[in-house]
Amino acid sequence: MGKTKPKKIKDICCVGAGYVGGPTMAVIAYNCPNLRITVVDISKERIEKWNSEDLSDLPVYEKGLDKIISESRGKNLFFSNEIDNAIKNADMVFISVNTPVKQSGVGAGQMSDLKWVEACARKISEQAVGHTIVVEKSTLPVRTAETIKKILFSRNNISENNKKSFSVLSNPEFLAEGSAIHDLQYPDRVLIGGDDNDSINALEEIYSKWVAKDKIIKTNTWSSELSKLTANAFLAQRISSINSISAFCEVSGADISDVSNAVGKDSRIGSKFLMAGPGFGGSCFKKDILNLVYLCNYFGLKEVGDFWYEVIKINDWQQDRIYKIIVDKLFGNITGKKISLLGFSFKSGTNDTRESPSISIARKLLNEGCFLTIHDPKVKVEQINKDLDQYKYFDNSVNVNQELFEEGCWNFTRDLRIAAKNSDAIVILTEWDEYKNIDWLEISSLMRKPNWIFDTRRVLNAKMLRKSDINIWQLGEGFTDH
Ligand code: NAD
Ligand code: UGA
Repeated sequence: MGKTKPKKIKDICCVGAGYVGGPTMAVIAYNCPNLRITVVDISKERIEKWNSEDLSDLPVYEKGLDKIISESRGKNLFFSNEIDNAIKNADMVFISVNTPVKQSGVGAGQMSDLKWVEACARKISEQAVGHTIVVEKSTLPVRTAETIKKILFSRNNISENNKKSFSVLSNPEFLAEGSAIHDLQYPDRVLIGGDDNDSINALEEIYSKWVAKDKIIKTNTWSSELSKLTANAFLAQRISSINSISAFCEVSGADISDVSNAVGKDSRIGSKFLMAGPGFGGSCFKKDILNLVYLCNYFGLKEVGDFWYEVIKINDWQQDRIYKIIVDKLFGNITGKKISLLGFSFKSGTNDTRESPSISIARKLLNEGCFLTIHDPKVKVEQINKDLDQYKYFDNSVNVNQELFEEGCWNFTRDLRIAAKNSDAIVILTEWDEYKNIDWLEISSLMRKPNWIFDTRRVLNAKMLRKSDINIWQLGEGFTDH
């Protein structure tokens, strides 16, 4: 017999056990012990890792995630590949699958590829029993809820003894990787878009277990979908804005930290997201802006689309300009030289490398024929191998000798001293805490001379080091050589 509407939510399913699905559901389970939550995925490997006894082997690294997983998993939080059963039992199904940019066909390179969302909607339509609230947690183009509804309400899965009904809500996720658990536990706001008050209230009731009511915003579905794309576009725009000014500082003698500080003190502007760096990475900013650009053009708003596209152009330019500065400083030639990259994740606090500036900078340097040694405290070498798939991994991580360097190859180490040994240059690309307190005089003594340090994250005390004989380039400040 089917479930009827309205009713209290007891059983939740989340389709997609990724960077959003896993942590988000873990926090809901932790705050709502009376709910039973099953997170499902098509990937056997991902689910095995979510169920791993060894909590350092979870597929997502986030501070505090291991603790809440250990408190809830097996009690009211389950990870499974049994998608059909989980949907059948659920009163509410979250769609939390990936929505990357389409690779081919109409809208290739800009439009969101909704094939995974569509597959999910079909599965829910087929397997759901009675009334089910479907929640868009993935970031989706405006009006996707309409498409989901059309699929859900297609008649062929409905029979006399299984009368199904659905309502669809938009509930975009605003967590940032590296601070996901904190962001979920203490959100600035929770956004719920929809047109069915009972369903909106049911979802609101869940969040209100730990989020103050005045932080829960309710809108129509389209405002909710568009707000998510707009929030990401605004955040990315701030980074491109400050990065464009970082280049200006390098040629004018202004100091980017002073400029960020002075500008951010204006309460109308605010101090967050004004850190100049190698450009934004992560799985979402680029794809969400591209999607916004596509939608603007689709609706005939070319000027608006062009405006947002500039944010991406400045981001690509920042990475390209860093690579060219490195080559230029090393006398225009890096063939056969060893360059060490510190940091491969797109920001600190996460093992995620998607769209990491390190990938594009590593590829450009490898194309010039250097030998790269990559260091990162959390990213696994297997992941880097996928990201640099067309370049040869040279498995000789200990004491690489100059004569063994192979052009256009790379290796990996978790030891900073091995990274530094015989290298001509070190490039800091991620702001991991452990890069902030390096003894640069010691590290420099291991490098081949003349040696350079390129600090794209502004983590080292350049003023102090300028007194030593190390050649330093710092983003937003420029170069001191000896
Ligand atoms: P992800 O790639 O880490 O995870 C998606 C998961 O969905 C994968 O494990 C995949 O196997 C699974 N999946 C795909 N199709 C499926 C299907 N039909 N059935 C079952 N499982 C399926 O992606 P993510 O980073 O978690 O992002 C998910 C969504 O959340 C995206 O729309 C993204 O834009 C949005 N988002 C991401 C973040 C973030 O920080 N990563 C933050 C906010 C919003
Ligand atoms: C971003 C948003 O911050 C989240 O609100 C959103 O939910 C998420 O995208 C999403 O939709 O996926 P995330 O990409 O995980 O989160 O991380 P951010 O902290 O936003 O950093 C993104 C990139 O910008 C990183 O490469 C980071 O190093 C860079 N950044 C950030 C800067 O260069 N300067 C800054 O001041 C801030």
